[in-house]
Amino acid sequence: MKMLMLFAALCGVAMAVPFDSAAYMGESAPMGLVDELTTLGFTKLVEFIEIAGLKETLNTGGPFTVFAPTNEAFAMLGTHYPKNMTLLVNVLKSHVIAGKVMSTMIKDNMMSPTLMEGVPMRINVVTWWQTTTIGANGAEITLFDKMAKNGVIHGIEKVIRPIPLGNMMEAMEMIPGLSFTLELIKMAGLDSTLAGEGPFTIFAPQNIAWMKVPEKNITALKANKTLLAEILSYHVAPGAFYSTVIRPGTLITTVQGQKVLFNPKMCKKEGILYKFMNEAEVTLADQSVNNGVMWLMDDVFAKPMVF
Ligand SMILES: *[C@@H]1O[C@H](CO)[C@@H](O)[C@H](O)[C@H]1NC(C)=O
Ligand SMILES: *[C@@H]1O[C@H](CO)[C@@H](O)[C@H](O)[C@H]1NC(C)=O
Ligand SMILES: *[C@@H]1O[C@H](CO)[C@@H](O)[C@H](O)[C@H]1NC(C)=O
Repeated sequence: MKMLMLFAALCGVAMAVPFDSAAYMGESAPMGLVDELTTLGFTKLVEFIEIAGLKETLNTGGPFTVFAPTNEAFAMLGTHYPKNMTLLVNVLKSHVIAGKVMSTMIKDNMMSPTLMEGVPMRINVVTWWQTTTIGANGAEITLFDKMAKNGVIHGIEKVIRPIPLGNMMEAMEMIPGLSFTLELIKMAGLDSTLAGEGPFTIFAPQNIAWMKVPEKNITALKANKTLLAEILSYHVAPGAFYSTVIRPGTLITTVQGQKVLFNPKMCKKEGILYKFMNEAEVTLADQSVNNGVMWLMDDVFAKPMVF
């Protein structure tokens, strides 16, 4: 339309601009999700969707909400990704939920079933000072509400790992370096809570972290269940927190009642960002389980800090 009118103006032709119905339709009727993804530049995702044989479903079925990792997000996984077709199909399906979920409909800790059978998507909304961030399984959403004919697209910064089936206790039982932590959790009677509905985030000190604590303190903890439960519940927060969605300086209220500080430190020499909670170093963050998120810690949070 615009081009036609411009052409007419340039040529000084006084002509009646014919109604360009095709162009008009193109503007008002959006494309299918996959075509829209291509237009938005999610070309790596589209390539994988085609390899996995999901193009037809995603372009014409639905309605769906697609959480679309950027090309950079796929590049971070290296060139080997993905070798296994079953895995590829499942990973792609875990990025899609049924229905058209606009950003305004998103609530914290929303669990939506994905196209991957039995595997939900967890959406978190975190507000700290003036900033609200939204994450899908810990991948921050940076592009919102791009409409397609059969759904909506939100752009995310990393490729999502599907949430495994087990709960926090089951997952921790499978991690070798947590045996002593689990012993203490059971001693304090917190195991049923951590296997419950949640969601919780646990900042789980590994066995090596307890080894840094003086022997007499461990003895004191074991002798006093109230004290033990207090220390352990200072390592658990209600809600699902991913390091990739919360901002540095965020204070998280724990089950114990006092707060822990997300305190990443940039090592200038190496140019690496080390993650800390309070002064305890994080070994591994953002492990999804079906009732929350696990972080593994290199240190025990010494004492509840007062903020
Ligand atoms: C491919 O992935 C599926 C699901 O994760 C797994 O069950 C299967 O063993 C894998 N196949 C190969 C050849 O690695
Ligand atoms: C050990 O216990 C003492 C007091 O009983 C306390 O002052 C100290 O902070 C504790 N150390 C750790 C690492 O928790
Ligand atoms: C056990 O710990 C709690 C909480 O710190 C404390 O209030 C209580 O006095 C302790 N009990 C004994 C017997 O030391």
